[in-house]
Amino acid sequence: MRNQVVIITGASSGIGRACAMEYAKQGASVVLSARNQDKLEELSTAVKELGAKVLIVPCDVTIDQDRRKLIDATIEEFGRIDVLLNNAGISQRSLAKDTLLEVERQLMEINYFGVIALTKLALKHMIAAKSGHIGVISSIVGKFGFPLRTGYSATKHALHGYFESLRAELHDDNIKVIIICPGRVKTNISINALTEDGSSHSKMDDGTEAGISAESCARQIVKAIDKGKRETYIGGKEILMIYIRRFLPGVFHKMILNIKPT
Ligand SMILES: NC(=O)c1ccc[n+]([C@@H]2O[C@H](COP(=O)([O-])OP(=O)(O)OC[C@H]3O[C@@H](n4cnc5c(N)ncnc54)[C@H](OP(=O)(O)O)[C@@H]3O)[C@@H](O)[C@H]2O)c1
Repeated sequence: MRNQVVIITGASSGIGRACAMEYAKQGASVVLSARNQDKLEELSTAVKELGAKVLIVPCDVTIDQDRRKLIDATIEEFGRIDVLLNNAGISQRSLAKDTLLEVERQLMEINYFGVIALTKLALKHMIAAKSGHIGVISSIVGKFGFPLRTGYSATKHALHGYFESLRAELHDDNIKVIIICPGRVKTNISINALTEDGSSHSKMDDGTEAGISAESCARQIVKAIDKGKRETYIGGKEILMIYIRRFLPGVFHKMILNIKPT
């Protein structure tokens, strides 16, 4: 990891924050990005204490100017991008029948269009360098549908189609793509999730509360990227749902009817 330059979006909280700390521990230089600059400054202090180089670039992934600033500032400071970890994202807690289309568009803007737009900007530099690694945080609901997550699940499914295709296109440029699917991770994801009218859910779900720690998730993410995996599933027993959906779809569709999601 020593001397690797790693951009992490959504670094102000949860999985992104923990990945920044993990990369810093392993000697990488980290570029911290999110909208909340105060939280990034706080994290920057912790990262510097580990002896890592750090750059803060506040960025809303839905804003083109911000995305350009993130990539340009990284190149100006470090001269290259070894890893772009597309982690910023927002979830949903609402029934499709009640959810405003604007809310579904907002989820797509953050979780899908923001990710692919930023990736395109980074790609220019990676292709010129003939090296690079793109990490995308999807979810287990990027592998199957789940009630109260229609729009969110759709954004994560879209990432799989895009990044699997992109992986094949980039093979000859020596650029790797990994899609990371966490299950339940104890972060603010449910608190920040959007409800039917776009307001925040503002509650910690029981499932999220019972999830693995962000630190454990981050260790597994960094390891999977380092190993050059194409896809990885991280979490507890909920990961089994991916395999049940794949190999026993009839069983999966019965099981999902008995789940009372929160
Ligand atoms: N926790 C889980 O159980 C779980 C499971 C599967 C997948 N995931 C995925 O993991 C990723 C990280 O989520 P988390 O669990 O760590 O949740 P979190 O604690 O709510 O963190 C989300 C991060 O995304 C950033 N963000 C949100 N909107 C943004 C925007 N428009 N522009 C830039 N940054 C934005 C937030 O920073 P600011 O508010 O400062 O911008 C924050 O740093 C997400 O993609 C999520 O879908 C989480």
